[in-house]
Amino acid sequence: MTLTKEKTIADLVRADFPILHQEVRGKPLVYLDNAATSQKPKAVLDALQHYYEFDNANVHRGVHTLSVRATEAYESARDKVAAFVNAASRNEIVFTRNASEAINLVAYSWGMNTLTAGDEIILSVMEHHSNLVPWQLVAQRTGAVLKFVELTETEEFDFEQFKTLISDKTKLVAVVHVSNTLGCINPVEEITEIAHQYGAKVLIDACQSVPHMPINVRSINCDWLVASGHKMCAPTGIGFLYGKLDLLRSMPPFLGGGEMIDNVFLDHSTYADLPHKFEAGTPSIGEAIALGAAVDYLTQIGMDKIAAYEHELCAYLFEKLATIPQLRIYGPQPNPDGSGRAALASFTAGEVHANDLSALLDEAGIAIRTGHHCTQPLHQILGVSSTARVSLYFYNTRTEIDAFVVALKEAIDFFSQFLG
Ligand code: ALA
Repeated sequence: MTLTKEKTIADLVRADFPILHQEVRGKPLVYLDNAATSQKPKAVLDALQHYYEFDNANVHRGVHTLSVRATEAYESARDKVAAFVNAASRNEIVFTRNASEAINLVAYSWGMNTLTAGDEIILSVMEHHSNLVPWQLVAQRTGAVLKFVELTETEEFDFEQFKTLISDKTKLVAVVHVSNTLGCINPVEEITEIAHQYGAKVLIDACQSVPHMPINVRSINCDWLVASGHKMCAPTGIGFLYGKLDLLRSMPPFLGGGEMIDNVFLDHSTYADLPHKFEAGTPSIGEAIALGAAVDYLTQIGMDKIAAYEHELCAYLFEKLATIPQLRIYGPQPNPDGSGRAALASFTAGEVHANDLSALLDEAGIAIRTGHHCTQPLHQILGVSSTARVSLYFYNTRTEIDAFVVALKEAIDFFSQFLG
């Protein structure tokens, strides 16, 4: 794709997203809730439709033509995901329903079977519930102890404190790459390097990074990495786990059932090779194929170009938000060029409730998220029960940010008159 000075990525791709071309409450839809889920381009919708219209059959189970086609498309999606994150082998990619299931897979297969009383798991206080609750369950069952990396003054991952927490007792460091609430980008390569010096394994929750920037699992050198398809232009119901081959090989199955077996006897079974050992039952076939189409779509645009454009949007967003004095924005400021953090902003506006803001923004056709964003402990630390969050993707425009900021100012002014 050739970019001219006049045309941004958004100008070039918006026509690909049918859902964006509608009015909500009589106003053009401005969709700014991308950290919750992204919209889907026509190419992805077509891939899903094509599968169900022409190729629908179960995978790995038949020699008839449709089954072969479905299997080839499903396994080709795995190749695409493996290349997208630069995995060393396609067998390092396990399809799951979503990132939560991928983390639970590691927690139940590796955590429950490996950790013992007194072993330590380091998490951060900014973790999504999906990278917190599974480890609480592991800790309750095994006697392992949870330790937490806190926030710096600028509300980022406290790397210095992390270095004081880690020890020979640490068996796992499980951290988010990009916080869905603070927007900070955590130093996952450095975290992994230090963790490995102590013999600890590292799991990266990459749900908010894989859709937005080039990701290279081999340069991060993490042991596992998880992501969700629906945040990267794919449908819901599909996510993936990346794991180093030897490690995945050493882990027992998570779920038992069809597809994950080699031979089954009445009293025992042997298991399929990777990655199928971890894909029990009929998988989300159409959704995986559509994830492959999403990967093709993102790759064609270029993840480096997407990241650069989101930096521009981020700089613009923060410049505009700075004109609203009532806002308290959580997490670090971006660099002047908009890099250094994700293109999202969680904020509060004095005493105005986030839900009220969102309801008035909806009147203007603008979609943002409010609530605790599945980071209740982080919100407790920040001293708020809920925040409003605007989150951008490569199809968003400066014009949409302008519309959002105007509507936000009007909403704050409207509610402020009742709050004195
Ligand atoms: N984890 C998603 C979010 O941040 C749902 O909104």
